[in-house]
Amino acid sequence: MTIEQQINELRQALNYHNHKYYVENAPAISDFEYDQMLRQLQDLETLNPEFKDPNSPTMRVGSDLTNSFNSVRHSFPMLSLSNTYSLQELQEWIGKVEQEISHPEYVCELKFDGTAISLCYENGHLLRAITRGDGEVGDDVTENVRTIRSVPLTLQGDDYPTYFEIRGEIFMPYSSFDKLNAEREQQGEQLFANPRNAAAGTLKQQQSQIVAKRGLDCTLYQLAGKNLGFSSHSDSLESARKWGFKISSHTALCNNFKQIEEFIRYWDEARHSLPFPTDGIVIKVNRYADRMALGSTSKAPKWAVAYKFKAEQALTKLLKVTYQVGRTGAITPVANLEPVLLAGTTVKRATLHNADQIAALDLREGDMVYVEKGGEIIPKITGVEISERNPSSQPLQYITHCPECGAELVRYEGEAKHYCPNQSHCRPQIIGRIIHFIRRKAMNIESLGEETIELLFENGLVNNIADLYTLKAEQIATLPRLGEKSARNIIQSIASSCDVPFHRVLFALGIRFVGETTAKYLAAHFGSLEAIMKAQREELLEAEEVGGKIADAIMDYFADVQNIAIIERLRSAGLKLEADKSVKASDSLAGENIVISGTFEQYSRDELKALIEAHGGKNLAAVSANTTLLLAGAKIGPAKLQKAQKLGVRIISEQEFIEMISTNEATNASDATAKTETKAEVHAQQPIQGSLF
Ligand code: IVH
Repeated sequence: MTIEQQINELRQALNYHNHKYYVENAPAISDFEYDQMLRQLQDLETLNPEFKDPNSPTMRVGSDLTNSFNSVRHSFPMLSLSNTYSLQELQEWIGKVEQEISHPEYVCELKFDGTAISLCYENGHLLRAITRGDGEVGDDVTENVRTIRSVPLTLQGDDYPTYFEIRGEIFMPYSSFDKLNAEREQQGEQLFANPRNAAAGTLKQQQSQIVAKRGLDCTLYQLAGKNLGFSSHSDSLESARKWGFKISSHTALCNNFKQIEEFIRYWDEARHSLPFPTDGIVIKVNRYADRMALGSTSKAPKWAVAYKFKAEQALTKLLKVTYQVGRTGAITPVANLEPVLLAGTTVKRATLHNADQIAALDLREGDMVYVEKGGEIIPKITGVEISERNPSSQPLQYITHCPECGAELVRYEGEAKHYCPNQSHCRPQIIGRIIHFIRRKAMNIESLGEETIELLFENGLVNNIADLYTLKAEQIATLPRLGEKSARNIIQSIASSCDVPFHRVLFALGIRFVGETTAKYLAAHFGSLEAIMKAQREELLEAEEVGGKIADAIMDYFADVQNIAIIERLRSAGLKLEADKSVKASDSLAGENIVISGTFEQYSRDELKALIEAHGGKNLAAVSANTTLLLAGAKIGPAKLQKAQKLGVRIISEQEFIEMISTNEATNASDATAKTETKAEVHAQQPIQGSLF
């Protein structure tokens, strides 16, 4: 088989399994097997750049290049839909349709709550993906859309039109949304208000690599093109499903208002158990001939209408406004409510965001307030029932001092939130910073949990992150619920955290706006904490992803003498405050493309891979014409061995390999292992629920 054939076979297999997983929710192979195939394809493409293809499954991981979004005119305008808000309005629309058309057929679909997209396909390959924009001209977001696993890059079958467009919605399932916001919260970044904003914001990300990690999904609901050869919408979607698109099965073919009403009533309730957001039902005339007869206005077709679900609302009493202090000192006002049932859950609290929002609503304690579930998730207060207001009530006064430590609050320019500036003596800030420091993605001090941190703080044993490194097992052992064994474990895992690489230490410090990724960029750019501390604002701005807000936060952090004192103590404790220099052990494997196969006695496969890289070689997953060495262990696969022999690849044993790399200096496998970077992980998405209609 030629390289090109191998590449094509792998691409086909990966496309097939991708569809199984992301469209059909019925994976046919394990994640591991999928990753292996992908690796193999990546290696082949790297070694044979002449076969590169923007629609290869390897392109789904995205890139770190900065995207620019060119404006592109839609071949067919992207109209919007007229909305109806009551069954009566809907019945009026049906009446108008039926004046023109006798016995129309209707298709009812869910109205997905995301952002509209138009996908263009040519000869079965994704050519372009364009946002709706103003309906005439949109942004070319192809690079980002390629990373969405449910979007087919290459179509199945052979009966698709040579050129066509298919429109649909890019949305963020709740599971991805919750994960994204949880990460943003931990990193002190602004949260997305709802999955729709998160989907739209993500689609406009400048790095497709980031889009790839955010778990977007895409469902298609409208075909557009000339002479497509279908006589109805339902037929067109049926074919589109066969071509590999994700088409919702939550649809119904209806003949009258009663059936449409039934569909609406069903989904108004059932949508709460869907894993993605919806905000209504779309009712479309099914037959294309009938659509033609009805026509469109310049804004919307007359053959379709949206029925919008009412946002679920409840009226309840605002008992009290309390204030939460986050680890960065940010104050969040919280409405404490008389418990009320809303969309299936009891709501007792709602977020109020900031002082401006309270003022805009003119909230008063004791008011009867309307509570809604914003994007179905976070309850928010949308209004006050003034007719029920106690005439003697007074406007709410926003706090001027921290509810935890009493310090006077500050409001930074351009920020909506108030902050408590008393970083070193305000309890929730101190505890919040330590909890952030021990997190898995930071210092990974697993044996310490939130409760233990609180216990250590209450007992005066830990007041800042540096105190962790002077803790003694005897001190911990005396605390309630903690015996000698757990005390020893805690001390052990604190000690192990000294091996955590510099970029994670930097993230763990909890500098405002310096999340995991920014910390990585800063570490790579400056190489050491010392260099970051010395950097001028302009120099900080030179690092990737660092803008004015982040640079200022870094400057503020290092201007605080207490932070400097803590850093000095961390340095003495032995934490890594410098990036590992990627020292190459030697160049003895330069130019070698090595495949490892079988089991080995002295090193694990990961160690061998790391050794290959540390000595300037390249590790490949599969034997091909580019392979120069096959590192063969016991139980090597006979097929691999045969292939290598056929291609005349040199086969070496573990011992020969060791001799090759130990020409001059001694090797240290574990050091080299630590330097290998893990590949970006692929998120599994929650399966779509089974069809009910
Ligand atoms: S059909 C010309 N079907 O709703 C008709 N739109 O408010 C094209 N939407 O821009 C749209 N689910 O982004 C259609 N099942 C569905 C939909 C849907 C969500 C969005 C779409 C459109 C917006 C109009």
